[in-house]
Amino acid sequence: MITTEHQILFCNARKLSKIADKSIDLVVTSPPYPMIQMWDELFKSLSNPIKEALLNGKGNKAFSLMHEELDAVWTEMYRVLKYGAFLCINIGDAVRTIDEKFQLYSNHSRILSFCTKIGFDALPVILWRKQTNAPNKFMGSGMLPAGAYITLEHEFVLVFRKGGKRGFDGPSEKMARQESAYFWEERNKWFSDIWDFKGTTQKLNNDKLRKRSGAFPLELAYRMINMYSVKGDTVLDPFLGTGTTTLAAMAACRNSIGVELDKEFKDMITNQIQNSRSFLNSRISERVASHLTFIEECRAREKSLKYLSAHHGFPVMTRQEINMILYEIQEILMEPKDRIRVSYRKISENNPLPPAETATKVRRSGIAKQQSLGF
Ligand SMILES: C[S@@+](CC[C@H](N)C(=O)[O-])C[C@H]1O[C@@H](n2cnc3c(N)ncnc32)[C@H](O)[C@@H]1O
Repeated sequence: MITTEHQILFCNARKLSKIADKSIDLVVTSPPYPMIQMWDELFKSLSNPIKEALLNGKGNKAFSLMHEELDAVWTEMYRVLKYGAFLCINIGDAVRTIDEKFQLYSNHSRILSFCTKIGFDALPVILWRKQTNAPNKFMGSGMLPAGAYITLEHEFVLVFRKGGKRGFDGPSEKMARQESAYFWEERNKWFSDIWDFKGTTQKLNNDKLRKRSGAFPLELAYRMINMYSVKGDTVLDPFLGTGTTTLAAMAACRNSIGVELDKEFKDMITNQIQNSRSFLNSRISERVASHLTFIEECRAREKSLKYLSAHHGFPVMTRQEINMILYEIQEILMEPKDRIRVSYRKISENNPLPPAETATKVRRSGIAKQQSLGF
């Protein structure tokens, strides 16, 4: 039976002595955003000079000191990541008036510049468009030129790699990679540089915590994990917040470690994890449902899909998708010391798919013609 392990550490991510050098396969995270007011208290609690800079109206100084706090965590991420592993950071810029001066604080460019300085290679970034329809989103002089400001309606997902391309050596690593493939049509969507979905949809009960969680949607972490790691890898989030990255790693059959400074999040994280099975499984079934719709659309356009999934029996677009396996969560077990164990079963056992007998006709590494299924 396939299982994964998840661990939550409550400590400061600047120094992660419990995590060995070069032991992590992927980092997906979102730090507190410098110069966004909701994070002022946290940054002030980390450093007196930040408190003084904000108090004295020194915006650029505060910006720079806040980033120095984050720099320590990026340096630690460089230490714990394996060569060829990725660091994905969701970050938004800030606009703010300090000492009567309105200006942009470009968090994404500051992090890009620091991470490349410490040795990461920068790769193309994703613009995450967060739709907002609020009529009061515009700032400045309204309909009169020339003092109105552009509204920030996007955030970034910065993508870095430590060292060159990751190698997959030996048959078991190669097979893990193939089993972790995503659908062709998912590739077309996920690897576009503009993502367009709403902010967080997870249900958080505690109002006070919700306000200061800054949670990203499951979809963001789930995509990054599927794009940049394989099943059985270990994903780390040094700024865990409500635990979204842990949930996404659970859904994607990866192990994970989440680090959070604020112990007040503990009950919420545990609660979310314990109650996440059907929420996460619905995301996995949605992938299958979307793929079946895609097959229908191809049929309608008389476009043929040449290959068959060896494990699930439906047609797929490319040879690379043949051996992919989708698992659903069977059980989530809370263990001592903030550890969680998750077990899985192959999704076809629940049979939401076309008859599985067709899959047995396909050799694991073979190619099957879709006509044999009648698609
Ligand atoms: C933007 S939130 C992360 C939200 C998270 N992605 C989610 O979906 O819930 C940033 C989190 O980092 C935590 N944090 C800030 N500084 C930290 C540090 N040095 N070490 C560990 N956690 C930290 C904050 O308490 C906050 O919960």
